[in-house]
Amino acid sequence: MHFARFVDDLVPFFAMEVMERGLELRRQGHDVLQLAVGEPAFEAPPPVIEATMSALQRGETHYTSSRGLHSLCRAIADDCERRRGVRVPPERVIVTTGTSPAIYMTLRLLLDPGDEIIVPSPHYPCYPNMVVACSARPVFVPCDAADGYQIDLERVRAAITPRTRCILLSSPSNPTGAVQSREVIEGLCELGLPILSDEIYDGLVFDGAEVTSPLSLGASCFVFDGFSKRYAMTGFRLGYVIVPEPALRPLQSMQQNFHISASHFVQRAGFAALEQCAPYVERMVQTYARRRRLLLDGLTQLGFGIAREPQGAFYVLADARHLDTDSKRLAHDLLERAHVSIAPGRDFGEAAEGFLRFSYATAEDQITRAIERLREALA
Ligand SMILES: Cc1ncc(COP(=O)(O)O)c(C=O)c1O
Repeated sequence: MHFARFVDDLVPFFAMEVMERGLELRRQGHDVLQLAVGEPAFEAPPPVIEATMSALQRGETHYTSSRGLHSLCRAIADDCERRRGVRVPPERVIVTTGTSPAIYMTLRLLLDPGDEIIVPSPHYPCYPNMVVACSARPVFVPCDAADGYQIDLERVRAAITPRTRCILLSSPSNPTGAVQSREVIEGLCELGLPILSDEIYDGLVFDGAEVTSPLSLGASCFVFDGFSKRYAMTGFRLGYVIVPEPALRPLQSMQQNFHISASHFVQRAGFAALEQCAPYVERMVQTYARRRRLLLDGLTQLGFGIAREPQGAFYVLADARHLDTDSKRLAHDLLERAHVSIAPGRDFGEAAEGFLRFSYATAEDQITRAIERLREALA
């Protein structure tokens, strides 16, 4: 069987391998603590479940407009105004089956084979794989732990070539938890390239950090967002993109052809999340804040390097080079010896090799026990 050439260039997701080995250990009866995946350890809020059930009972199980239910697009536009201070017409929203397809469709829209896209790194592992699937090239711009992983504008400028089409970043970031400063976002906007701004962790911020969206600076940008993280709705598969006016028609055509529409009853769930779930999000953020403190203090006591505390998302990318410079080997070793599952930094680019990504989306008691086990394993 012949496979397309890009398949050879797809990079495996090593965290998944660690997780799968963890599941195998669980099947053998071991109690494995899970700090590798970015999956909120919360059930979806009750209003979301109720809205889903009643939509199903009403028979809302059909295709919708490819752009999404108008009521949901309007609620997303209202939410955008509340969070980013910008009013966008609901017509500029396209609802998708998760944030991931929104990112991939936008990359397909902007990248021809051989084109380049700037990706500050450490980065979300799926970005380069999506770029490679467009036969384009991710150009990584390293960010330093010592700078709190702020994007270095000089390095970005130096990476631009005639083939550069756009910049793709997440703030708050997976895996670093960094929130880019307003100055950095302003500097990126001034470069004149379209910005693909993945804001899926917006709202999950701590210590008074504020997220600046290029949208609120009037930049030409695509904003990706969704319900997976903020509302603990990963399995609902619901996201959206706010697009610049000229990109609407082509993206809508892609959505019609590739996905048709997001699921009808799931969109009702999304509406309930936006309209009724602010208090639940607030409580989850308070819980994440406690887990974050617990994890940061524990990792620091164990000797992991954390140059600057992450301000958002639910990840800590900690320097583990004093233990092993090969993060994949170290993650496997800690899994076998301590039964703690952690994501190896290598997944997130060369800039994160030698680091481990700990997720505090997991429950507090799991974090406490994981720190205890790591203490014993490292003693
Ligand atoms: C930065 C980032 N973007 C996008 C996604 C994918 O989100 P979704 O579940 O909405 O497809 C993730 C998931 O972990 C993520 O970390």
